[in-house]
Amino acid sequence: MSTIEAKDVWQIYDGRVVLEKINISINEGSFVSIVGPSGCGKTTFLRMLMSEETPSRGTITLDGKPLPAEPTSDRGVVFQRYSVFPHLTVLENVMLPLELAASPLLSRLFGARRRATRDAARTMLEHVGLHAAASFYPAQLSGGMQQRLALAQALMAKPRVLLLDEPFSALDPGTRADIHVLTKRLWEETKMTIVMVTHDISEAFRLGTRVIVFERLNPDDPAHGARMTHDLSVRPRLKDKKVLA
Ligand SMILES: Nc1ncnc2c1ncn2[C@@H]1O[C@H](COP(=O)(O)OP(=O)(O)OP(=O)(O)O)[C@@H](O)[C@H]1O
Ligand SMILES: [Mg+2]
Repeated sequence: MSTIEAKDVWQIYDGRVVLEKINISINEGSFVSIVGPSGCGKTTFLRMLMSEETPSRGTITLDGKPLPAEPTSDRGVVFQRYSVFPHLTVLENVMLPLELAASPLLSRLFGARRRATRDAARTMLEHVGLHAAASFYPAQLSGGMQQRLALAQALMAKPRVLLLDEPFSALDPGTRADIHVLTKRLWEETKMTIVMVTHDISEAFRLGTRVIVFERLNPDDPAHGARMTHDLSVRPRLKDKKVLA
C-alpha cells in the first residue's frame, strides 16, 4: 500500500523553479534514500512532506488524504544537527514529544502520567543505548550519541513516517556504521516508512530499499528545476537475507 503519494509536485521560489514535476509513490514500510547535488531541493522536498512548506503546484497525499497543513506527530524528523534541545537533559528531550502531545501549553505532565512517560522514555533510551546518559545535557554527548538521541526523540511519538535529512553526515565512519545498524533495526521493528536524504551513496544503498536521484538537468535555467532522474530498487544483500530468513 502506498503511504505517500506526490503528484506533479513543483516548488518555485521567487520565480526560480527548484523542483519540477515530482511524481513518486512511496509504499508503507519502505526505506527511500534521496541523493542529489547540493541545492537541488532535497531538503525542500522533505519540508513539503513535513508540511513545513507547501508545493507551488501539485499535491501530496498521506494515506490517500491531502497532507495536513501543519506538521503532525505521524511524521517525525531528524536533521543533521540541532534536532534536540540543548537546555533539556537526554531524558527530558525524549519525554518532550509525549509531554507536548498531552499538554501543548505547559509541555509538562504530572503524577502517574509523568511517571508513565518517564518509563517509556527510559525504555526508548535503552533501545538506542543511551540509558547511562539519561541525566546528561546534549553538549556533554558525542556527535553519534546526539544523533541517537535525536532518533529516540523522533521515535517517541511513534511516527508512521520518519524523515531524515543527512542525519549521519557529521559522524566519523565507525560511529556511522554503528548508527546504520541501529537505524535499520529500528526501521525493521517499527515498520515505519523512512525517507532519508544523504550525500553518501553507499549509505543510500546500504539502508534504502529504494534510491531516488534528484538532479537539475539545466542548472542555469530558472524555468527548470530538479527532477527525479533515477528511481532504483535495492535488492537485499545476501547477508541481510540470511538475517531476515
Ligand atoms: N524558503 C526558501 N526561500 C527561497 N529559496 C529557498 C527556500 N528554501 C530553499 N530555497 C532554495 O531552494 C534550493 C534548494 O534548497 P534545498 O535546501 O532544498 O537543497 P538541498 O538539495 O537540500 O541542498 P543540500 O544538499 O546542500 O542540503 C536552493 O537554491 C535554496 O536556496
Ligand atoms: Mg539539504
